[in-house]
Amino acid sequence: MTTVATPALSTPPPEALVAPPGLAGVIVATTALSDVRGQEGFYHYRQYDAVDLARSCSIEEVWHLLLRGHLPDPDELAAFRATIADGQLLPDEVVQALDGLAADTPPATNPMTRLRTALSMLGGGLGLQPVWDLTPEQRERDAIRVAAQVPVLTAAAYRRSQGLDPVGPRPDLGYTANHLWMITGEEPTDEHVMALERYLCLTVDHGFNASTFTARVVASTGADVAAGVVAALGALSGPLHGGAPSRALDSLDAIGTPDNARPWADAQLAAGNRIMGFGHAIYRGKDPRSELLRETAEELGGPLADLAVAAERAIDDALDAARPDRTLRANVEFYAGVVMHECGIPREMFTPTFAVSRAMGWTAHILEQARDRKIIRPSARY
Ligand SMILES: CC(C)(COP(=O)(O)OP(=O)(O)OC[C@H]1O[C@@H](n2cnc3c(N)ncnc32)[C@H](O)[C@@H]1OP(=O)(O)O)[C@@H](O)C(=O)NCCC(=O)NCCS
Repeated sequence: MTTVATPALSTPPPEALVAPPGLAGVIVATTALSDVRGQEGFYHYRQYDAVDLARSCSIEEVWHLLLRGHLPDPDELAAFRATIADGQLLPDEVVQALDGLAADTPPATNPMTRLRTALSMLGGGLGLQPVWDLTPEQRERDAIRVAAQVPVLTAAAYRRSQGLDPVGPRPDLGYTANHLWMITGEEPTDEHVMALERYLCLTVDHGFNASTFTARVVASTGADVAAGVVAALGALSGPLHGGAPSRALDSLDAIGTPDNARPWADAQLAAGNRIMGFGHAIYRGKDPRSELLRETAEELGGPLADLAVAAERAIDDALDAARPDRTLRANVEFYAGVVMHECGIPREMFTPTFAVSRAMGWTAHILEQARDRKIIRPSARY
């Protein structure tokens, strides 16, 4: 075999554009779905402020907006809810395949790994075809089916891992209430549904984050909708992206009491650790999502919310002292864990719950990307 000495980093051809680390600030597509402008605290879904939507809309309305471009009227909403409910039904052979998967999966398997595997199997079981070969109507049908299955599959896998029988969705409950119902097997309170609905609405989409970009790269190859969502799930599972809320709650456990928050944060920063639930690639200041989730956590009340509010203040001070060059503030994940915990969601289901909302955003992005017939294919320096 002929080998050549590895040269120093190659000189890019004169026409090449060399992207900055992390592709930060590089515009890679055109979207009508959402926009985030960190400096201004601007966060929109289509033509609406996302935080306003989270205060006043159901998740089904927000999903309809993202998918079809407008908020539904009552008839459209009823029809859309029925379409989602249909999408949550599984063919018997898929249920059997998933039962086999549950029996074969070691109990300690991470819930995101279970979900990824189940969704992959679902794509095969439903016989999903490449979006390249489908009409816009068929693509939308697949997008709704795949996204609507995320809460069903993740709750079923969780319950099986606990030795419990899965609980199917109830047509008389809304999407958010069903998510709680399928995890706990208990009918949730209105207060918990309202709090979780806000969380889901706030996290449906968020510009070109890592998992959304991943879904769009896969869609640009013409692959089926489930393939894009499975890839996005992999990106979301990382601790720097969607894996942070349970770690943020672990931090609150470690802090224990408000007095201990500052010494704990100072020690973490002195050791070179990152504080989970703080900082953001886009926001250089307050994350508008964390503001509404703090308010929601305070409305739910309880000692955990009180501890989180005190800890946030102390961690802000510690970060300001350690990193005077940056403004690192609480991101969506910090209060997400508190809200989900108070709603009765077990810690290991935090990131899968994030996936429940983001799957609606990913699939809307997949449909948008599928209309563009250019494959995403950048280059690298060797
Ligand atoms: C979200 C995150 C990945 C963004 O990363 P990024 O775009 O590289 O962040 P920035 O450019 O603002 O900041 C990078 C610098 O600030 C520091 N920093 C950022 N977030 C920090 C945190 N939470 N704790 C301590 N230091 C932090 C980094 O160590 C880095 O320092 P360096 O330049 O000396 O290497 C990062 O803030 C982080 O890891 N946060 C914790 C994980 C988390 O909460 N993720 C959920 C995101 S919604």
